[in-house]
Amino acid sequence: MKIVSVLLFGIICVQHQTSAASFGGHEGFFGIGRNTFDTRVIGGSNAERHQFPYMVALHNQGRHTCGASVVSPTWVVTAAHCCDKNMGLNCATTQVVAGQLHQFENHLDVQKASVAKVVIHPQYYYNGTFIDHDITLLKLASKLVFSVAVQPVKLPSANQVFTQGWLSGWGVYQRPPTLPVTLQYLKMDVITNNECDEILKHFEPYEQLPLIDSMVCAMPPSKGPETGCNGDSGGPLADDGVLIGVTSWAVNCGTYKENAPTVFTVVNKYLDFINAHVDDLPLRDGN
Ligand SMILES: *[C@@H]1O[C@H](CO)[C@@H](O)[C@H](O)[C@H]1NC(C)=O
Repeated sequence: MKIVSVLLFGIICVQHQTSAASFGGHEGFFGIGRNTFDTRVIGGSNAERHQFPYMVALHNQGRHTCGASVVSPTWVVTAAHCCDKNMGLNCATTQVVAGQLHQFENHLDVQKASVAKVVIHPQYYYNGTFIDHDITLLKLASKLVFSVAVQPVKLPSANQVFTQGWLSGWGVYQRPPTLPVTLQYLKMDVITNNECDEILKHFEPYEQLPLIDSMVCAMPPSKGPETGCNGDSGGPLADDGVLIGVTSWAVNCGTYKENAPTVFTVVNKYLDFINAHVDDLPLRDGN
């Protein structure tokens, strides 16, 4: 069976447990960072404080599940599957944590907000083997105060082309699946969907082929084993503070010898969706 392993963390999916091991089993856990499965040491890096001021963590029942990006004082963007009720997730009760470098740290930079409104993309669809429109907006119940630690990401322009980006997240970084304390990041090259398809073809049954318009792939410049991982879902792939993609899924990398891309929702395909809801966008400068 073909599966698409979405990259959320920590909630065991009863409904899709057998088809998508990434929800709870070891086989699906991949990391930005160290891959201890086949002894290749791969490297995400520890972020510095204030390096990714648009990066936020989503906590559900006190546990990290996903990342997200600040787009305005009262809105963050994340992946739709991070709020998927079919997987036992309810973003209405999510706590949004901005300004954090280390998970659950007690630091003056940290700002926490609860969620006032969840806007899942109306055409979001995920059935364990196929995913589309994996993007959601969360309106915060209180305003973020922008600072050196908390800043909005810029939205891209509709036709902006990216060749590289920085993935960041608190997703799994080693086996057995462990979440890092410190935010991890990884520089990646954006690759074409054709190239991505060519690589993903080798990973049957863990693939969604062909890739569709709403998706873009990235791999490290070395085409090495570094990848987004469970817990990175919803977080940013950004270049120079401009949001390229929302982390969505990956094949079960780490369990294979071959390296695989991470797949993101393409943000510039969703500017209308974002503009229709986010009423307090700061000035945009995608170019
Ligand atoms: C999931 O949806 C896709 C696209 O509609 C379809 O091709 C596939 O068969 C579905 N898979 C399951 C398990 O229902």
